[in-house]
Amino acid sequence: MYILNDSERDFLIGIDYALLTNKEKEVLARKTLEVPDGGIIVELGTAKGGATSIFHRFGQGKNVSIYSYDLNPCTEARAIFTGETNVTFIQSTTHDAAMQWIGKNLAIDLLFVDAGHMFVDIFNDFNDWVACLKKGGTIIFHDVDTKAFGGLNFLGVKLFCDTILRLNLLTNPEQFDTMLCGVIETPGIKVTFADSMETFTAIAKNAVEVIEYYRERFLDFLSVEKHDTTLDGPKILSYLGPHVKINCFIFAYILINWLREIFNNPAVSSKKLAFVNKILSHAWNLSAWNNAVTLIDYGRGCHKFPAKKLDISMIKDVNDLSKFVALEESKLQAVWQIAGPVFEKIVKLLENEFISLSNLNSYENYKRFIIFGAGPTGIQCCEELLKNNRTVIAFIDNMYINGSTFNGYSVYTPEFFFKEDLSYDAVVLGSKGLKWQMYIQLVSLGYDSKVFF
Ligand SMILES: C[S@@+](CC[C@H](N)C(=O)[O-])C[C@H]1O[C@@H](n2cnc3c(N)ncnc32)[C@H](O)[C@@H]1O
Repeated sequence: MYILNDSERDFLIGIDYALLTNKEKEVLARKTLEVPDGGIIVELGTAKGGATSIFHRFGQGKNVSIYSYDLNPCTEARAIFTGETNVTFIQSTTHDAAMQWIGKNLAIDLLFVDAGHMFVDIFNDFNDWVACLKKGGTIIFHDVDTKAFGGLNFLGVKLFCDTILRLNLLTNPEQFDTMLCGVIETPGIKVTFADSMETFTAIAKNAVEVIEYYRERFLDFLSVEKHDTTLDGPKILSYLGPHVKINCFIFAYILINWLREIFNNPAVSSKKLAFVNKILSHAWNLSAWNNAVTLIDYGRGCHKFPAKKLDISMIKDVNDLSKFVALEESKLQAVWQIAGPVFEKIVKLLENEFISLSNLNSYENYKRFIIFGAGPTGIQCCEELLKNNRTVIAFIDNMYINGSTFNGYSVYTPEFFFKEDLSYDAVVLGSKGLKWQMYIQLVSLGYDSKVFF
């Protein structure tokens, strides 16, 4: 894998008008470097020209042509490239643009899908444009929720991407932050409404299963009498049980379920509210939140979602599905205003359970480690482990391709590493601010037996 030099990294950091994380900018840079001489890059959704600037810089010297489409004029983006001949901005809907492109008979090497973010937008963008890709061409989707968010932010995008992953339409799929990349070997493929409905029902079914698993546990957990003063990580872990599948998406639904139980089930005492109220400092009118959620569900013709027996007869086509999902997205976004602070608090309590590396001496049996996070904090952790005569087996990182190296060690994606079942004693979370996201990703992969340092 090509390692970017300092001036290239500085360039990427300087592109602060892109709606992209630094990791994502790096991914775009690397994927552009892989485009062959004379290749074609198409971007759906120009905005201020952030991604376009990256395609331009890293395609330099290779005679790469870049086409970027947006329904808005995007004057700021155009101003960056006056006089450039290999960047073409076109004001058009992505659909009209695809119809025009088909007549050109030019095969695209790299397609970046970042225009409309509703389900119907990404569904149509994929089906309109995939046939224009070269066989073996690369497609990149943006704003695909990470495992930790799981559809909380862009449910429509997640639903679509889960569908193409389920159907194995992407060869070598890789996710870096909120960017999903893969290779298209059969550009003639299409995703259907039926394919998408199958994924949608699976997402709903999984949400119901997890909510049901936690229902009693959490209602019990909310009872203040039991642990007003003893609320701590181990207690929470014991409530979460051995099959932790929780992430922000699921937690939003758990909170919605609490609201329903609290207000609609007379058997649930108001005492159960105490924990939520304690965290939210009585700042929220939970009954108003319950009303809002009920009204959204009712207004779109579904008594409640997700439900064990889901009546989806009103969803007859892609537009219906997209509208249904759009309302679900707004429900989740709204509810996260209250679910977020509670989730954060729970995660903080869990984080306190991670054992600090400075206490290694008390854990003599832990000899072989893997480090999650191939970055500066990961290197510090590695040094600390070596100083204490421990063995570092490998790094895991979402950003790296399996088998690449970092600091002299192999790097794998967490998915690959845990599937291989390589022998190790514990994981170190080598990150400053993202420990909880790492933790949630690991437990969602079934990691439940080792101590975190
Ligand atoms: C998230 S922004 C793109 C960000 C940009 N790729 C970057 O890297 O900074 C999405 C853009 O897509 C455009 N857009 C949304 N729906 C569209 C459609 N149907 N056709 C064309 N452009 C669309 C919006 O006007 C907006 O500028």
